Amino acid sequence: MRTAICDRLGIEFPIFAFSHCRDVVAAVSRAGGFGVLGALAFSPEELEVELSWIDAHCGDRPYGIDIVIPRHDPGRASEDPAALAARLREQVPEGHRAFAREILDAHGVPGLPPEARARELVGWTQTIARPQIATALRHERVRLVANALGTPPVDLVREIQASGRLVAALAGSVRHALAHVEAGVDVVIAQGHESAAHTGEITSLILWPQVVDAIAPVPVLAAGGVGTGRHVLAALGMGAQGVWTGSIWLTVEEAQAEPAERESYLRATSHDTVRTRSFTGKPNRMLRNAWTEAWERPDTPDPLPMPLQGMAVSEAMARIQRHPALAQDVAPSSVGQVVGMMNEVRSCREEVYRLVEEYLEATERIEKLVPRET
Ligand SMILES: Cc1cc2nc3c(=O)[nH]c(=O)nc-3n(C[C@H](O)[C@H](O)[C@H](O)COP(=O)(O)O)c2cc1C
Repeated sequence: MRTAICDRLGIEFPIFAFSHCRDVVAAVSRAGGFGVLGALAFSPEELEVELSWIDAHCGDRPYGIDIVIPRHDPGRASEDPAALAARLREQVPEGHRAFAREILDAHGVPGLPPEARARELVGWTQTIARPQIATALRHERVRLVANALGTPPVDLVREIQASGRLVAALAGSVRHALAHVEAGVDVVIAQGHESAAHTGEITSLILWPQVVDAIAPVPVLAAGGVGTGRHVLAALGMGAQGVWTGSIWLTVEEAQAEPAERESYLRATSHDTVRTRSFTGKPNRMLRNAWTEAWERPDTPDPLPMPLQGMAVSEAMARIQRHPALAQDVAPSSVGQVVGMMNEVRSCREEVYRLVEEYLEATERIEKLVPRET
């Protein structure tokens, strides 16, 4: 299973694990894979705490971070985050905030106490991402910075590379992959339609080889629907240098999840996800529930473009976070179609080794199909 990217990053297995949970990131890297922390929701100060914790718990192994700078970034490179938030807040119609409030009221989720302030997720912009990168570059073991939703600005690509790290970017189409390569990105993550969170129209089986061919020799990581060693074999067989996974880490022992949330993933089938703009304003795959269905009805407001929808629902998100058990039926839960294969709770180490063992079994099966000369 050793590919060129293993040597570039100093890892044993080309298994990349995206997670918002530092315990998962550290445990996957310790097991020989490559943990990647989703940094979006952290302030630079909070990110510093998370990365210091991972440094202390990843056993000298490398790991990465993931930031979000969309293609159409409403922020300006040097804009003050408070000024940006104020500018955008004026564009959020009160009707959208009220509708989000009503969904939670109808499900008995208590309102925020007067002293609590909802954090507005204006994170989908370089105004927020640049200070996060500055923080990450102070941590030696961060060896890769990935960007979601767009081609990272060229000056950022150069700055990260000059520090000796790799830059990766997610792509849902060949066009996006080519734009990333044009900007000098080192690694493209080809992410198929079936994946969790923000995702495009093209399924993994079609997208992976198209991207591999279009940008060779730039390395590709295959994302979207990877949940078994058989998927890993398929990805490497199509020319990817590794797999980039997200959903399967939601049910591991180390993931900090409410019991009810974990149960909902373990119970769900591959039919139970939907792509919806109701959370962030861009198509995002999540579990179908009362939240997604409320926004899909014809008599309800159309979700706003990113990042306004995220701001419109920020108070609702704060209520959900305060009452996760009560809010389970209305909590936006990003997960991919592979959720139908996530039926057991294992540790991160067991999960990494399961993928490796299944990959080896599948490889043996394939080898038996190839006639040998005697
Ligand atoms: C809960 C959750 C949140 C995610 N948030 C982000 C994100 O902030 N940035 C990002 O690049 N990818 C994000 N992803 C997508 C993953 O990076 C990865 O591409 C995707 O999960 C791969 O498909 P899979 O879920 O089928 O494994 C998220 C995935 C999950 C499960």
